[in-house]
Formats: sequence, C-alpha cells, structure tokens
Amino acid sequence: MEKTLVLIKPDGVRRRLIGEIIGRFERKGLKIVAMKMLQVSHEMASHHYSIHRDKPFYDDLVQYITSSPIVAMILEGKSAVAVVRGLCGATDGSKAAPGTIRGDLSNNIQYNIIHASDSPESFAYEYPIFFKSDEIFEFDYGDENLI
Ligand code: CMP
Repeated sequence: MEKTLVLIKPDGVRRRLIGEIIGRFERKGLKIVAMKMLQVSHEMASHHYSIHRDKPFYDDLVQYITSSPIVAMILEGKSAVAVVRGLCGATDGSKAAPGTIRGDLSNNIQYNIIHASDSPESFAYEYPIFFKSDEIFEFDYGDENLI
C-alpha cells in the first residue's frame, strides 16, 4: 500500500481544524500509520521546502511553518498520494474546489491549512524529516476489505 505525508500547518492547528481534517481522511478509508504534534525548526523547514528556496515567497513560507506547532501524519492506502492530494484540493484555497479541504476551509494561497506529498518520491524525501522508522506502525484495522 502507498504512503503519503500530511502536515496540518500552523493555521489549521490554530483554527482548531485538526479533527475536521483527520475525520475527512478517516472517512475516506485512509489508515493513519504515524501521527504527532511538533514544532518545526528552521532546519527542518529549509530541508522540507528546499525545492522552493529560490521562490519569492520562501522566507515567508519558512516563517509561517515555524510560527507555531503543526500536526504531522503518514497516511496509507490505495493510491494514497493522489487520493490525499485530491482531498486537499488546489494549492490556492481561493481556487480550490468546494468539497475539498482547502476549498471548504481556506481562501488563501499561503495559509492553505495543509501540505501533502505530491509524489511517492516526494514522500520518500519528506517523511524522514518528521518521523523515525520506529514511529511508523504496521497494523490492520480489520475493515480493509470494506474500503
Ligand atoms: P505546500 O503544499 O506546503 O507547498 C509549498 C507552500 O508554499 C504551499 O503549500 C503554500 O503554503 C506556499 N505557497 C505556494 N505558492 C505560494 C505563493 N505564490 N505565495 C505564497 N505562498 C505560496
């Protein structure tokens, strides 16, 4: 089964949307195999967002992601990367489709509530920034044949 990394960013946490967001992933049938609340350091942020280093919004992005705690999780499921990106919606909350997390909960391109890996390769790069291997669980819910 495929895995993907999700971060509920500072705006999502501070707007008390953790439960709303996790509920959507659970209802879709994704398995939460790792989860924690943490404060992102500048070192972690610069590693995670290294692809954006030359973008004009990079400094603001690092300031934002390090401004207060986030919730990080690893979700597992069939086509998890694409399915989770679909649930998140377009990067810019003002353009994201209704029914998606950003479409329903954000109206901003920077304060867009959530980050999700955009490919299995991105997941492989991103997840070790947030999780050690012994923090990722292997278990069955018992409802896998129903999802
Ligand atoms: P994320 O999916 O975490 O990936 C990079 C982040 O940069 C993105 O969500 C937004 O929070 C932010 N971002 C992307 N484009 C812009 C932009 N044009 N202006 C400001 N922030 C942006």
